Amino acid sequence: MANVVVVGAQWGDEGKGKIVDWLSERADVVARFQGGHNAGHTLVIDGTIYKLNALPSGVVRGGKLSVIGNGVVLDPWHLVKEIETIRGQGVEVTPETLMVAENTPLILPFHGELDRAREGQNAMAKIGTTGRGIGPCYEDKVGRRVIRVADLADDATLELRVDRALVHHNALRAGLGLPEIDRDALLASLREIAPEILKYAAPVWKVLNEKRRAGNRILFEGAQGALLDIDFGTYPFVTSSNTIAGQAATGTGIGPGSIDFVLGIVKAYTTRVGEGPFPTELDDADGERLGTRGREFGTVTGRKRRCGWFDAVLVRQTCATSGMNGIALTKLDVLDGFETLKVCVGYDLDGERLDHLPTAADQQARCTPVYEELPGWQESTEGARSWADLPANAIKYVRRVEELIDCPVALLSTSPERDDTILVTDPFAD
Ligand code: IMP
Repeated sequence: MANVVVVGAQWGDEGKGKIVDWLSERADVVARFQGGHNAGHTLVIDGTIYKLNALPSGVVRGGKLSVIGNGVVLDPWHLVKEIETIRGQGVEVTPETLMVAENTPLILPFHGELDRAREGQNAMAKIGTTGRGIGPCYEDKVGRRVIRVADLADDATLELRVDRALVHHNALRAGLGLPEIDRDALLASLREIAPEILKYAAPVWKVLNEKRRAGNRILFEGAQGALLDIDFGTYPFVTSSNTIAGQAATGTGIGPGSIDFVLGIVKAYTTRVGEGPFPTELDDADGERLGTRGREFGTVTGRKRRCGWFDAVLVRQTCATSGMNGIALTKLDVLDGFETLKVCVGYDLDGERLDHLPTAADQQARCTPVYEELPGWQESTEGARSWADLPANAIKYVRRVEELIDCPVALLSTSPERDDTILVTDPFAD
């Protein structure tokens, strides 16, 4: 049986929610492997809108197992609230349908405070984070002072872990002018939330390996996008986890050989929220038009997304670092009506032509995009369900994108409706 990893191939917000939902219907297990409630996945099922942050998308579909892997950072209070909200929408969530890895790090209130304090400190430090404590929690994980789900089960261990974290955080907070953490209040709120989380706790690595052996189909659901990867993204303007496909293995505890297909989600143009380099960014009427037509506002923070032309160089790069077997191209309809479309095919760096984005920040800043122009189309592509429904120039655009990024289109999404999808290759096919 095939196991599929889905990752965003740009800076997040590529429209993963719909594709993941489409695939999750065919999966037995849906697993999150990185990120936290900085993600915002919107699912529209039979006219009902579900907004998920921490929960895997499979949770809204009955009969699936949803898994939060150890690569995720989890805010326990947010999780409980999110579960309550979707329960209110009629979705059943039980320890049989949701499992949280015992070794998942917990985001605590002081992580969010630290995140926001740093962002507000000065322009130099600003990353444009979601302010949800993601970075500080991952820092504590690698600093070996984080509190993990399993620590909630034993009071003595919990106290020890809290004290270890506070030694570090109180020193840091003093430097930032923040008050000391109230140890007793923190412990009390952790003890209160513990049973709500522990009922979902499980050795996820073991469960997933058993499921895989039993022939279950596992869908690994990425959050954010490959250009926000801590190693391969536009550092330091990135998130604090590995967002590329390899993380599906370490973030859940399955071997890399268990991954059969990597699907990259690619928007037909480019967007980004937060700070950082964006070579094809448009600061003109075309950019405004992409933003308005594409309804480009962040689902988590409500921020207006920066918009620009499709950057084939960057997507070719992320197809390589994630080993994409195919892409799902989304939001093609947003390009309807443009006279001419531009696609970035290389960069000019001080007169030299580059076929990749250099790593050094000063060089990135001096890179100017080299564009290829393609004819636009005036017809609507919204809701197209077969190639025959697409204008010839739209097909030309898609074919050129495939060529430039060196990866085939497996799926083409033409509206937020799940059935408005053209299937070329089924990622779950054996
Ligand atoms: P953090 O993940 O909150 O630390 O934010 C770091 C960077 O990642 C910022 O530029 C955020 O805007 C961006 N980011 C985090 N989560 C998402 C997401 O789900 N979609 C798009 N951008 C995101």
